[in-house]
Amino acid sequence: MNYHKFDVVIVGAGGAGLMSAMQLAHNSSIAVISKLYPTRSHTGAAQGGVAAALGNQEEDHWKWHMFDTVKGGDYLTDQDAAEVLAREAIDAVYDLEHWGLPFNRTPDGKIDQRRFGGHTRNFGEGPVRRSCYAADRTGHMILQTMYQQSVKNQVNFFNEYMMLDVLFNDGQACGVVAMNLRDTSIHVFHAKAIVFATGGYGRAWRITSNALACTGDGMAVAYRRGIPLEDMEMYQFHPTGLYKVGILLSEAARGEGAYLLNSEGERFCIRYAPTMQELAPRDMVSRFIYQEVAEGRGIDGKDYVYLSVAHLGKERIDEKLPDITDFARTYLGVEPYYEPVPIQPTAHYAMGGIPTDIEGRVVVDEQNTVMPGFYAAGEVACVSVHGANRLGTNSLVDLIVFGRRAGKHIASKWLPEADYAPLPNDPDGRAREQVESLLGRTRGEGQDAIRKELRDMMMDKVGVIRSEQSLTEARAKLVELRERYDGVRLMDTSHTFNTELMEVIELGNLLDCAEATIAGALARRESRGGHYRNDYEARDDVNFLRHTLAYHTDQVGEPELRYKPVVITEFQPKERKY
Ligand code: FUM
Repeated sequence: MNYHKFDVVIVGAGGAGLMSAMQLAHNSSIAVISKLYPTRSHTGAAQGGVAAALGNQEEDHWKWHMFDTVKGGDYLTDQDAAEVLAREAIDAVYDLEHWGLPFNRTPDGKIDQRRFGGHTRNFGEGPVRRSCYAADRTGHMILQTMYQQSVKNQVNFFNEYMMLDVLFNDGQACGVVAMNLRDTSIHVFHAKAIVFATGGYGRAWRITSNALACTGDGMAVAYRRGIPLEDMEMYQFHPTGLYKVGILLSEAARGEGAYLLNSEGERFCIRYAPTMQELAPRDMVSRFIYQEVAEGRGIDGKDYVYLSVAHLGKERIDEKLPDITDFARTYLGVEPYYEPVPIQPTAHYAMGGIPTDIEGRVVVDEQNTVMPGFYAAGEVACVSVHGANRLGTNSLVDLIVFGRRAGKHIASKWLPEADYAPLPNDPDGRAREQVESLLGRTRGEGQDAIRKELRDMMMDKVGVIRSEQSLTEARAKLVELRERYDGVRLMDTSHTFNTELMEVIELGNLLDCAEATIAGALARRESRGGHYRNDYEARDDVNFLRHTLAYHTDQVGEPELRYKPVVITEFQPKERKY
């Protein structure tokens, strides 16, 4: 057995993982395991900014930010978490600045701030400049800055290791099992604390802004070990993905003044959201687009509309939106200086995930019972600060605030009192069996069709609009795909950088995440945030102001569902108007 021992093992080298590592690096031994080279983590794809009520451009308050987060989340947001997010965003952004992040600046040298969807002044009066940014590559800059700091602080990296299993013993987390992609060797990492920071699962949908690596690995591994997944039905579509390609065109464009136009050249958002217009929250703008297309006002009768930035002028486009305008040129051959860019909603972000408390500790039931030594932060986690719909720029805040809290809690509370739990018997048995059985199979179907059919099914039946019928069909399809997956065969049985093996394991993870998503969506007979049912169009606070917990069972497509209440401290649920 390849055995490694560290105080803390962090899985995932994006913003949340590195932020946790930075809190721990001075006083403990840390390993960060990453499926990718760290600077290729998906945090790097975040574009438009990180929200914090610095008030550098106009008056702002953390309480306004908290309110917007709660309202934006359609009141499924846990308000204790929203308070932490909004309060601590300010210090966390200054940490980044002090570590060297090259933010855009105001003329007097402060961090510049721009508008973003759903962020308002004075509890909804109008847009506010809250997003701190580095052009349209803020996530990229965060990743580079934190990776440099982690290297400087002697964090140990195990790059291109894929996590396959998490280990528990004596009532606490005690390790993870990972495969070295270089040679398929299996490694056991023994630790006092484990942090999952493995990101989301957008690759379950056909059109997505997510990188190839976003396959729900952390969620699926935890789910199979009996940890519930919370609110998985709450999945966000970002309104402005490049048509057919899905690549993100930042909301920052609309924050800078870009318009959405239908086939009649109309700025249709004004009709639906007179105050916030194009800067209404993403769930709403995605539905506005869906509605325009359904009523025949998609461009050329197709399923897309236009994002127009041309009126901003070349200079502003080049200074504030250089990357996304290049994407339009490269992938669609459109020149945004003069031409509108075809866009459609793209699967973007999981509000749900592994349930945690506000210290980043994983909780396992309706009573929020903590699983000692197990932490999660970032998109893999559900703290639940985004409720039913995340506001743009709140994901980078989530990474740095809750990644930081998890690291600090481990350093100050858990490590001083914790010891290593012994590893369970045959710790790498399950992982070895998984890899050996995949490599040893001599007949069966390849993975490609299963993957394609999963992504089509999720797009068509578990997308922006859902219904009992579409979700029931999705569940039946999932059961069929899982059965086919269980007999899947690899064409490449080599042991050297076997990317087909990695992809097949990822596909299994996507199927598990899809299972919890569909089951939660079927049971939630209401519309709220990113979960819109055209057979139950109203929000139903009497029956569904609650979080879903999905537990894995042996019955494919049928997780056990349980529920827990939403934490409401200050803001009583109200109708959302923008
Ligand atoms: O539109 C964007 O720049 C995306 C930001 C986010 O998802 O927070």
